[in-house]
Amino acid sequence: MDFRGLTVDDLSSVMELESSVFVSDAWSSESMRSEIESPNNFYLGLFEDGLIGYAGLSTIPGSFSSDIQTIAVSSAARGRGIGRALMQELLRKAKAQGSEQVLLEVRIDNEVAISLYASLGFERIDVRKRYYQPDNVDAVIMRLRITQPLVLGIESTCDETGVGIVRGNRLLANALHSSMDEHSKYGGVVPEVAARAHLEAIAPTLNKALAEAGVQMKDIDAIAVANGPGLAGALMVGIGAAKGLALANDKPIYAVNHLIGHVGADVLERGYVQLPTIALLVSGGHTSLLLVRDLLGDAVLLGETIDDAAGEAFDKVARVLGLPYPGGPQIDKLAATGDPKAIRFPRGLSLPKDMEKHRYDFSFSGLKTAVARYVEKAEADGETINPADVAASFREAVVDVLLTKALNACAEFGVDRLLLGGGVVANARLREVAQQRCEAAGIELRIPRFSLCTDNGAMIASLGAQLVMSGHAPSSLGFGAESTLEVTVVQSP
Ligand code: KG4
Ligand code: ZN
Repeated sequence: MDFRGLTVDDLSSVMELESSVFVSDAWSSESMRSEIESPNNFYLGLFEDGLIGYAGLSTIPGSFSSDIQTIAVSSAARGRGIGRALMQELLRKAKAQGSEQVLLEVRIDNEVAISLYASLGFERIDVRKRYYQPDNVDAVIMRLRITQPLVLGIESTCDETGVGIVRGNRLLANALHSSMDEHSKYGGVVPEVAARAHLEAIAPTLNKALAEAGVQMKDIDAIAVANGPGLAGALMVGIGAAKGLALANDKPIYAVNHLIGHVGADVLERGYVQLPTIALLVSGGHTSLLLVRDLLGDAVLLGETIDDAAGEAFDKVARVLGLPYPGGPQIDKLAATGDPKAIRFPRGLSLPKDMEKHRYDFSFSGLKTAVARYVEKAEADGETINPADVAASFREAVVDVLLTKALNACAEFGVDRLLLGGGVVANARLREVAQQRCEAAGIELRIPRFSLCTDNGAMIASLGAQLVMSGHAPSSLGFGAESTLEVTVVQSP
């Protein structure tokens, strides 16, 4: 016996079974086709020398609720537990998608089915009179409640200590402590300072998250922690805390990828992440362009920065202009009154010769140097520069190159969705140009709320919860900090 998801290629065998099982109540071939094709539906077939049973699950995205649409077993295969097996697979799927309940309706005279559903945990919640026509038979509405896992997530990859708590795909708490201020006198994140700040912040941030969610450590079903990519010393603090909590409270632990966490953050915004998507992750620590077809199993790194991260470029150019750290917000503000076309700064890795090897990679160090040269030259020549024009032109160059490459990726891979993440997403011009270009190209733009865009514990908890909901085994306690963790590794063993 063999389970597999059905496609329209299976339509004729499905219809054969449909008409033999349901006779005059059978769906038309057109209805069946549209149900199988619907992106909200999951149709599962069971094969044994041909199709012997099938069942369909429908889940409206973000509803946290699924419906069993149909279930059919060929008369020759009855009494072998096939209906139960199909139902169990659909329930597994509903759980993995984050559903908190599954509903179905069944003829009141179908006692065999009603008792099967009851044995799977479904309860009668309503009766719809004369629902089945023309037989005039009532429908029993049944519901299965699913308790999704309560997961605590710890983030410490860079300068943010984050502890988040989710239940399934729902956000319960997102506590954060940033050591940004402590780095300001150095003009950038100092790894040692960040690690020490995590040590001091981790316990209070944990307590804050537990209070915010109104839960206690004993209620938590699993602990997730970002084990890379990031600063080794910073990562070790979060990992140490997570392992200690897991051991002391006897909880399973999941070591997850920080970058995939950024992509998964959108789940907490609307209950699901629509896939496939291109994801552009831009912060002080990373600049990555990803193609994600499946959050837990199919993410590809298309490109990343070969030198400075986008946020780092903002911070460095801010220094050149005499602005305080973090430079991103400062430049953004100053640029608002400047002319983005005043100076033509270079777009890194955009020349035809670069595009062969570095089609989706980024480079900002040449741009930073160009800004510094421009300012130095003006000073040497005794000219005064217009800082607002410099800021606006620099910002334009960063935004242009980020979005040109991201939208090229959408076009090349036929993906009509773009998700943004990371602290640089706060940039007003990036948001504006992203909106304009996505609209012009017919691409759906997703920008989660800012507290979910910057580094945070909730996105780590959410990715952990998705692993739990899909039945992934926990990590062993042997995992370590992986500064350069690849995006293909969603969970470390
Ligand atoms: O994701 P994030 O909060 O944390 C880390 O990278 O750790 O990103 C911080 C980065 C900083 O480099 C900051 O300058 C940049 O995001 N940033 C901005 C803006 N706001 C923050 N960059 C450009 N424009 C902004 N409005
Ligand atoms: Zn990040």
